[in-house]
Amino acid sequence: MKKVVLAYSGGLDTSIAVGWLKDRGFEIIAYLGDVGQKIDRAKIIPKAKRSGVSKIVIEDLRKEFVDSYIKPAIKANAVYEDKYFLATALSRPLIAKRQVETAKKEEAGYLAHGCTGKGNDQVRFEMTFASLAPELKIVAPAREWDFASREEQVDFAVEHKIPVDVSKKSPYSIDENLWGVSIECGVLEDPEKVLPEDAYLLTKSPEQAPSKPKLVSIAFEKGVPVGLDGKKMNLIALINSLNTIGGACGVGRSDLIENRTVGIKSREVYEAPAAAILTFAHKELEAMTLDKETAHFKKTIEQKYGQLIYNGCWFTPLKASLDAFINETQKTVSGEIKLKLYKGNIIICGRKSRLSLYSKELATYSQEDIFDRTAASGFIKLLSLPYRLTGKRRK
Ligand code: ARG
Repeated sequence: MKKVVLAYSGGLDTSIAVGWLKDRGFEIIAYLGDVGQKIDRAKIIPKAKRSGVSKIVIEDLRKEFVDSYIKPAIKANAVYEDKYFLATALSRPLIAKRQVETAKKEEAGYLAHGCTGKGNDQVRFEMTFASLAPELKIVAPAREWDFASREEQVDFAVEHKIPVDVSKKSPYSIDENLWGVSIECGVLEDPEKVLPEDAYLLTKSPEQAPSKPKLVSIAFEKGVPVGLDGKKMNLIALINSLNTIGGACGVGRSDLIENRTVGIKSREVYEAPAAAILTFAHKELEAMTLDKETAHFKKTIEQKYGQLIYNGCWFTPLKASLDAFINETQKTVSGEIKLKLYKGNIIICGRKSRLSLYSKELATYSQEDIFDRTAASGFIKLLSLPYRLTGKRRK
């Protein structure tokens, strides 16, 4: 019998994928990775069984997600098209990797996902499958079936005795994990319209946020957040806290028309309070601790890094090489950043680092100044030499 490991969420698409694969003679193992979304095990296990899987594997991937995916993203200030902190994109290579490992353990020859043919997630799953298990075959039911509507999908489910919760019909497609929420479809397909307030899961609007600002202080060691408000904290707890605190202050929303890997422009709303706050703080700390050339060069690397994550290139040689560069830059990024969160804004309130390159003695305009200003005229003479030549030529 053909055995397949299916990336499973328990939603309509992956439930139907089970029936579709069964019709084609597959034995199905459902794989569900917990990356911080809400998983109701008591509900989802019997649901998967009744849908027709022979086995469901649920794993808590939160620690690995934070240590091996979110930490590198923080060090890289990873963001796509200036607004998307890549929550969904970061989770896919990890889920796909564990899926591959499950397939090897279960001796399955096939890997499957429930992504459609228009999105980025199919690319991310299959780029990872290709890198880690080029010998395994891939099935993408949602790319092949031809249901004309959601109603037809529900009919298929009823026919196949697959339990579906039709009452929970949300107009949006939502993907959620520790690093943020992605909201798509429904009214968002009209770029002239805004997302109704009740659709947001993590954040208050600036209007509803308290009129008193909230102060937070974040400690970093070698580019990684290690403490909040003077207390050491593991990164899962720290992210959860900042999602709550930041979300209440209306921080971390963004609304983006983005360029998908397959070329389509799509509209998505993101909520990522912790990602927004940590990236803001991390950049402030880098401003103090990185030398000028490294800081400027890193910006170009960061942009590429964000694009690689978005495009599913996590397990690629280029990504590994950029990690080596980024990790080298983070050796000195330690210190503490104080911020004020106020009605959707993140405001810098103080910076401190034992490895700071900021020198008050050099910067000051007061008596304590140690800067050798006699060196400046020679410096500028040589710096401007090429333009003395072009200036003369112009004459
Ligand atoms: N556009 C985002 C990405 O490509 C999120 C995709 C999933 N979004 C969703 N609402 N289901 O990473």
